[in-house]
Parts: sequence; structure tokens; C-alpha cells
Amino acid sequence: MRLVMIGSGYVGLVSGACFADFGHDVICVDIVEEKIKALKQGIIPIFEPGLSEIVQTNMNSGRLSFSMDLASAVSEADVVFVAVGTPSRRGDGHADLAYVYAAAEEIARAAKGYTVVVTKSTVPVGTGDEVERIVRRVNPDADIDVVSNPEFLREGAAIADFKRPDRIVLGTSSERATEVMRAVYRPLYLNEAPILVCERRTSELIKYAGNAFLAMKITFINEIADLCEKVGADVQKVAKGIGLDKRIGDKFLHAGPGYGGSCFPKDTLALVKTAQDHDMSVSLIEATVSFNDKRKRAMARKVVAACDGSVRDKKIAILGLTFKPNTDDMREAPSLSIIQALQDNGAIVHAFDPEGMGAAKHYLNDVVYGESPYDIAEGADALVIVTEWDAFRALDLPRLKSVMHSAAIVDLRNIYNRVEMQKAGFRYYGVGS
Ligand code: UGA
Repeated sequence: MRLVMIGSGYVGLVSGACFADFGHDVICVDIVEEKIKALKQGIIPIFEPGLSEIVQTNMNSGRLSFSMDLASAVSEADVVFVAVGTPSRRGDGHADLAYVYAAAEEIARAAKGYTVVVTKSTVPVGTGDEVERIVRRVNPDADIDVVSNPEFLREGAAIADFKRPDRIVLGTSSERATEVMRAVYRPLYLNEAPILVCERRTSELIKYAGNAFLAMKITFINEIADLCEKVGADVQKVAKGIGLDKRIGDKFLHAGPGYGGSCFPKDTLALVKTAQDHDMSVSLIEATVSFNDKRKRAMARKVVAACDGSVRDKKIAILGLTFKPNTDDMREAPSLSIIQALQDNGAIVHAFDPEGMGAAKHYLNDVVYGESPYDIAEGADALVIVTEWDAFRALDLPRLKSVMHSAAIVDLRNIYNRVEMQKAGFRYYGVGS
């Protein structure tokens, strides 16, 4: 089948490359000239394990190409995916749909023959209806169905998530469009991925409800972690103890510095706004948003406590900057709030991250970047693990201790064991125990 991705950002690129890998012919379109130029040379603008290889293989086989010419790509397409950004609109937190609607107009003008237009971007309930209205207004004769097909890709694990999804959600009441979309995803039948077909509005809400639930689950365990610290319990055991109950499940119960990234913070906020627009409040989600915002900065207090009550003029070594491992994404990363709070308290911050330092420089001031964990630990009063990169899981503890000024470790991801750390001579501060 001939597929077009409008928007060659994270979602468009990963989905386009994986669809090409399934054997479809895919053109990824973008309006940013430098991006398309770079992609044509096989240069990938984001860090995502395995993506570069898939892009290269499928470009070589001729199934994947990149273009700025939306009209010509769409005119040949069976299915056009809209995978443009939907950032939080400045001021009110609503998802900004300007790019989605602009794409809809252009698609309506360019489409020839029966074309399925699919919103893959995360869009508020009712956006598909508006896209359909735009299409009908711009080109009343167009033979187009508009389908919602949200993505559930995690950064850092996106290829695996795409190829082995828990489910595929298709929001449409058109049987013709459903058949086309089933054909698009047919290669996944082998993996027996369940396909849920529902109304378009329901599909749009599934995406937000899913992310909001996961954000709430993380927030729940973070709140329990705080309680564990007060009552002398261990959150990791509590998480295990409740996670073994199949009704709860063991995923997304890792206590930490709060969720970040380009999805949970934006989508929870957008859901709150949608509810407000309909004269109701989603109080659980509102509480989640507010708890998480406060938590990130509050993590700095742990560091202050580990430094005997003051970080003024002390050197603090931050291990990990990105919002999670295996990405170079710094959006809404807890490290940003933590570092800001430490600097506000007079700390001198040094940091190391395997992939995120380039992006971090756009967000942070006065941070000294190092070459390795040991480099930044040199003379440090405390080492703070903010992101759980694999490379931080087996640090050479004697070496670390020998270079630090004061052997304090604040492990915000609980990747080390308190007893082992204490045996190695460190003062160890985890989360929730
Ligand atoms: C999230 C969802 O997991 C995807 O299913 C969804 O498709 C995506 O948003 C999206 O809407 O595009 P992502 O933001 O890449 O994916 O990252 P997650 O792995 O979900 O992690 C989000 C944040 O939660 C990170 O800051 C992570 O450190 C934190 N987290 C996650 C925890 O603190 N504890 C956990 O147990 C799990």
C-alpha cells in the first residue's frame, strides 16, 4: 500500500520507517527543509535505538523516501497519516491544533481517489470531526474517510512498541476505512495484536485516558513513596506487593522524581482543559498534575538534606538529564526543576548524560558538563542519580568514593541497594524507604 506521513518528527518517522519495514511504500513529508535534507542523507534528527538502521535499510530498498512536496505525495496515497506536533498552546494548556488543521486543508486539496486520512497525532476529542469538516469544505468532492489511530509508542522503546503493540485502536464508523486500516496493519496479525475498532471520539479519548491513567499510576506510587519515608516502609516492596495483584499490574509503579517528557505532562493538562470545556473537572487528573509539578522541585530537598542542610557553594554531580533513559529528549525532564532548585540554593552543578547534554544546553544555565560519571564526581559533595541509564547501574564504587569530596549518593531512581551502598562506604538516600 502507499502510505504518506505528514510530519517527520518522532511519531511520523518511527511509524513511517516501521510501516516501510512491513513492506508498504512510505513517503515521509515535512515542511522543515533542513530536516528533509538531512533525512535524505540518512541523518536522523532524534536519538531512538534501532531507528537509524530501519530508516537506512528501507531507504536502500526504495520503500521509504522523504519529501517536502505534500501534494504530490498525497495524490498517490491510499492512506495519509497526520503526525504533526500538537504542543500545549501557550497560555491555556489546550493542545494547539493549527498544524493538524493546516495539514487537513492541504490533504483535501491534493487527494485523488479514495483516501483514508488518519490522525496519529494526539488530538483532543472532536478533532477528527473538525478535520472531516475542513476536508468537506475545502474539497466537497473528495472521497475521504477520517480515522483516528492513536500511537502508544514510548520514547526509547518505540520500534519494539510499534512492532509488538498491546493493541491497535481504530476510530471510525466507516467499514471501507476499517478494511483499509486492517490491511495497513495486516503484517502485525502474525503477532496477534488485538485491533479495537470504535467510534472516532472514543478512540481519541482512549489515547488521553491511557496516558492520564499511567501518569496517575506513577503519581500514586510517588505519593506512597513519600508515605513510606514517613512510616518506615519500603516503596519497592510495596510496589511489588500490590503489583503482583493482576488487577493492578506491576508496570509503571517505579517511584522516582516525577514523570516528564513530551506526552504525560501535555496530555494530562489537555484532558483537564477538555473536561473544563464541558463544565466538569477530572479531579484525579488535576491532583496528578499538581502533585507531579511540585514533586520535581521537591526532589532538590533530598539533596539539601544529604548535604547536611545546605548546598551553598557545594559541588553537586547530576547523573542523567533526559526525562528517561535511551532518549535525548529533555522536555519537562525532572532534572530541569531539580537543577534550578539546587542552583537557587547556591549549589555549583556539574552534570553528565550519555545523550542529553546537547539538548540540555538549551534549557539550563551555568551547568558544567563532564565526560563521565567519575569526571563530574571529582570533588563532589553529593552525586544525584536523576535518570536510570544502564551505564549508571554498575558504577565502580571504590573509584567513585575515592574521587568524591563527600560520599553521599542521592538515588532518585532506586537503582542501587542501600545495604550495598553503605557497605561501600556511601551515605545513601533513595526514594521511598
Ligand atoms: C508515554 C506512554 O508510555 C506511551 O504509551 C505513549 O505513546 C507516549 O507517552 C505518547 O503519548 O506519545 P513516553 O513519554 O515516551 O511514553 O515515556 P514513558 O516510558 O511512559 O515515561 C514517561 C515518564 O514517566 C518518564 O519521565 C519516566 O521516567 C516516568 N516513569 C515511568 C516513572 O517515573 N515511573 C514509572 O514506573 C514509569
